Amino acid sequence: MTAQIIDGKAFAAGLRERVGTVAADFEAKSGRKAGLAVVLVGEDPASQVYVRNKGKQTLACGMKSFEHKLSADTSEADLLAVVEKLNADPAVDGILVQLPLPSHMNEQKVIAAINPDKDVDGFHVVNVGRLSTGLPGFVPCTPLGCVMLLKDQLGSLSGLDAVVVGRSNIVGKPMAQLLIAESCTVTVAHSRTQDLPEVVRRADIVVAAVGRPEMVKGEWIKPGATVIDVGINRVPGAEEGKTKLVGDVDFASASEVAGAITPVPGGVGPMTIAVLLRNTIVAAHRNAGIELDESTI
Ligand code: GUN
Repeated sequence: MTAQIIDGKAFAAGLRERVGTVAADFEAKSGRKAGLAVVLVGEDPASQVYVRNKGKQTLACGMKSFEHKLSADTSEADLLAVVEKLNADPAVDGILVQLPLPSHMNEQKVIAAINPDKDVDGFHVVNVGRLSTGLPGFVPCTPLGCVMLLKDQLGSLSGLDAVVVGRSNIVGKPMAQLLIAESCTVTVAHSRTQDLPEVVRRADIVVAAVGRPEMVKGEWIKPGATVIDVGINRVPGAEEGKTKLVGDVDFASASEVAGAITPVPGGVGPMTIAVLLRNTIVAAHRNAGIELDESTI
């Protein structure tokens, strides 16, 4: 069997287009553009690329982008003061503090300082609690993007066996909550799981988010399963001195067995920023008290 390729890049482009339409409608109704503030501390090159892309795509969707770049030696108190200012700014609908933060800062404390109703990353404990109890809040962008791709591919997920490999706060745990909400039977596997191949083999849906290049092999996959690869790992390429991106799934072998699979790059990756923009326009409507059918975006 050769798997169908799930085109996250195309899906994300469609989602950004829908966000753009809703953003224009928001501006017409509220008299202002929706706004996303991104805070970057330090000069981590990967974070700088993410932040630049977020800014560009925010503007392209017709929203305002506020960027706060702070030096790596900024004190935690100064960062908290920036967050407080953004909490109080009515032009700012969503706040994202780029992670990781420098080691002298307490990430949980900084996230806890963000107003949960502007926490478009869905990292605040209030939003984590809302997700696990089924209340409306904000859901972390990468797992929400994965569920959107799964529902687009499969329709209803009800009753399916799902295995999430990885238990991080950003992907694995919220992914499990979202799949439970879709009435899947969910197993969360991780580095201490016994007989991981056997656990993965019973899944109709496999979500790999462990950060280990090409760890999940084709022999682990149930024939016809849907495979979502969240990994983005840079490894040495075929040519001397060159590198390439691979996921957490061994694409060559898995695509021979799976029914459908996300590629790396071009699968889950492009979804993250598109969902962030979606969460931001949702936040703008909620905070301005303007009605929006959130199921349409
Ligand atoms: N660093 C890498 N991905 C993310 C993300 O989705 N949100 C934040 N805040 N930081 C990140």
